[in-house]
Amino acid sequence: MSLLFVAIALAVVATVVWLIASRRQSLPCPVWLRWCVELDNPFAKNNRAAVILDHLELQPGMTVLDFDCGPGRLTVPAAQRVGPAGRVVSVDLQAGMLARAKEKAQAANLSNIEFVQAGAGEGKLGRGRFDRALLVTVLGEIPDRAGALKEIFDALKPGGVLSVTETLFDPHYQSRQTVSRLAGEVRFRERGYFGNRLAYTVHLEKPTNG
Ligand SMILES: C[S@@+](CC[C@H](N)C(=O)[O-])C[C@H]1O[C@@H](n2cnc3c(N)ncnc32)[C@H](O)[C@@H]1O
Repeated sequence: MSLLFVAIALAVVATVVWLIASRRQSLPCPVWLRWCVELDNPFAKNNRAAVILDHLELQPGMTVLDFDCGPGRLTVPAAQRVGPAGRVVSVDLQAGMLARAKEKAQAANLSNIEFVQAGAGEGKLGRGRFDRALLVTVLGEIPDRAGALKEIFDALKPGGVLSVTETLFDPHYQSRQTVSRLAGEVRFRERGYFGNRLAYTVHLEKPTNG
């Protein structure tokens, strides 16, 4: 019993230290924990790839940015939905995450995905390219959150939509208020909200005059 208590206390302390340190420098989710990212948490149904993508109403031929794609949980179903005439650009800081995403894309026989190893703020996204962007359980891992949102804003086409998903089960959880504040600073307009306190998605639109 006391061993269990010590284990829980250590896990809590490690999480808090990780959170505080993440505010200053990039400390991404370790690659060895990628299996955890791929699990469907039964208590956070709104964090499931199919639910997030259904809300985003992807159409064949669209170009989608999966920003910080991790092991490709959303990349593969997004590429299937936009079809061969569409494209998904999947970006992540860590080669190990991208390797897993590539494995899954190959197994699904998809050739409409471009993988880019880059960190937020490196300027590798381009400008005015994307119809849709995904930022799923990532924002809190990025030290310069406003800078990352601005980079995505610039990469979207006018009228393009960024889908931000956060879940309470993620140690880097960002509240809706924080996401709305940061997004407002970058001139995103809030277009929709889905979910509940355990997991939610906000849709942020780049104005057509943007
Ligand atoms: C919790 S995972 C989420 C992955 C995916 N979006 C999903 O929901 O399945 C967070 C991912 O963000 C990546 N990441 C963290 N900080 C980053 C940064 N500063 N630049 C680029 N990628 C980053 C990590 O490597 C990790 O793969």
